[in-house]
Amino acid sequence: MNRREFLMWVGIGGLASSLPVAIAACSPQTEKSETSAMPKRTDGFQAIGTVTELKQKGQMLKKDFAGGPVLVISNPGNTKTITAVNPTCTHKGCTVDWKAAKNAFVCPCHKAEFSPAGKVLKGPAKKPLPTYNAKIEGDAVLVKASSR
Ligand code: FES
Repeated sequence: MNRREFLMWVGIGGLASSLPVAIAACSPQTEKSETSAMPKRTDGFQAIGTVTELKQKGQMLKKDFAGGPVLVISNPGNTKTITAVNPTCTHKGCTVDWKAAKNAFVCPCHKAEFSPAGKVLKGPAKKPLPTYNAKIEGDAVLVKASSR
């Protein structure tokens, strides 16, 4: 094989190996979630799901939310409003779960408990869960990206 033949083979190989990447880059994205298709808001709130979903599941967890992970529940005192917390336990970082029967967020790792507003009810955690501004508009569950 002379130099010219070698360069031609390398060129064809390079083209063949980069072709799938080029095709993927030009293809339309097909894995959009329902909420990513929603129009971007100017007030900082982001739709993370629907009230219908929240009622069905009892809680709504979104790990890839812009401000960090978010767990939304219906406010136990007024189910027409919602509460949103960062579910990362302030003890060692496990993800808390909403337990309606206890009216508390409960950490599965060391059993710390937090009120619906994120305050520590039971240790070993000492710091409250950060909360987010959250509201309902129509059927949309909206959360503001910066935590309080
Ligand atoms: S990580 Fe939550 S109580 Fe320890």
